[in-house]
Amino acid sequence: MTAGLRRRERGRLSNYGNRGETMGKNIVLLGPPGAGKGTQGQRLAEKLDEPHIASGDIFRQLRGQDTPLAQKVKGYMERGEYVPDDLTIRVVLERLSQPDARQGFILDGFPRTEPQAQALDNSGRSVDVALYINAPVDVLVERISRRYTCPKCHAIYEASRRSPKKEMTCDVCGAPLERRADDAPEVVRPRLQTYLDKTRPLVDYYERLGTLVEIDGAQTIEVVEREVDRALRLPAG
Ligand code: AP5
Ligand code: MG
Repeated sequence: MTAGLRRRERGRLSNYGNRGETMGKNIVLLGPPGAGKGTQGQRLAEKLDEPHIASGDIFRQLRGQDTPLAQKVKGYMERGEYVPDDLTIRVVLERLSQPDARQGFILDGFPRTEPQAQALDNSGRSVDVALYINAPVDVLVERISRRYTCPKCHAIYEASRRSPKKEMTCDVCGAPLERRADDAPEVVRPRLQTYLDKTRPLVDYYERLGTLVEIDGAQTIEVVEREVDRALRLPAG
């Protein structure tokens, strides 16, 4: 076991795989803004052939709609606040009921509060592994300041290092890239604070359940990916 991947409790993951080897894996990605949940979630989805379900992406897709609900959601996100639990739970559980998520899923950014975690447990979709990807605040702020995303397929880019082949154009789907409104410097700090207040306690929640695996997200994308694979007992790529 490396220093980067710490199993924080003896017997952790002892229930992993209880749903049978032929079943998919129910995975939750937990961690602060900019930790790399989306980056690792997209890679895992390809490897496991499971949907990457990111609540933030679902909410961002609403932006195009001219409804009072869409405007409300936009307002919460742009202030760095969370969308209320009742709405979030409804939207995500609805998505989990789709056929492609029946065998397993990679949830990114949900649950984010204890009521959301309880709602997921009560829905009968028990979590096999909660991957907690963490990194120091200065690293998070710096990464977010360089990020560009595709509003259509949600691909993630980075100014200077992982830039697209054609300037400000998504390599995957050709859509124009953009900066997320909540990546504005004045919103990043409130987002981090909301995370600490409301989501950080879920680390203890999943630790108590014995499903938490902590991964040092300050390492390179490739090293983090290797540690994620190891945590999930995936064959080395
Ligand atoms: P959401 O979209 O989930 O955002 P977030 O949690 O703030 O996380 P980010 O997407 O900013 O970061 P990430 O961890 O995915 O990092 P990424 O891989 O992109 O939520 C947005 C908002 O929606 C919330 O604030 C809230 O308003 C609402 N919302 C969503 N879910 C909700 C819920 N359940 N309840 C209530 N409200 C909800 O990486 C970041 C950058 O770093 C990229 O440029 C990437 O290339 C780079 N990078 C990644 N990993 C590495 C690495 N290891 N080394 C170097 N660079 C790296
Ligand atoms: Mg993300």
